[in-house]
Amino acid sequence: MLIRVLFVCLGNICRSPTAHGVFQKMVEERGLSKAILVDSAGTGAWHMGKAPDARATDAASQRGYDLSPLRARQVSVEDFSRFDHVIAMDESNLADLQVLKDKQGKGVEPVLFLGTWLPQASERNVPDPYYGGEEGFEHVLDLVEAASQSLLDSLIADYPGLRGL
Ligand code: 4NP
Repeated sequence: MLIRVLFVCLGNICRSPTAHGVFQKMVEERGLSKAILVDSAGTGAWHMGKAPDARATDAASQRGYDLSPLRARQVSVEDFSRFDHVIAMDESNLADLQVLKDKQGKGVEPVLFLGTWLPQASERNVPDPYYGGEEGFEHVLDLVEAASQSLLDSLIADYPGLRGL
């Protein structure tokens, strides 16, 4: 079995690569890397092919996550058929994804990361850290770590085939 998870933000250089790297490491630590495929993409095309923002890479590295192999790509209509979970970092990303998905008609419904897996949080959106300071990247990591743990626990609960792997 293979469960495919796609994280989406605007640029695919700050928030979604952070979620990609954090969730990938949690999946590996549970021994599930052959059963859960992780990817990330941006709704915008500006940064295609680029490595994540150095501030995101540095902050993640201090917590033991390696974002350096990741490269930005733009989300496509095919992603709604390729992935089982298309996860938006904020409500603006979600609205953009919904427009794209409606063009195609079929595939999975995109969902909001915090709203779905961290509903008790005081925020619904992982805030865009691009134009702010380093503390914004720490806050992204705090939210992403908590929601990723919850996402992984819920996948293990929802897909009985993952247990005992
Ligand atoms: P991200 O952050 O969506 O978390 O990757 C951004 C990166 C770049 C831009 C905006 C947000 N930008 O406008 O270039």
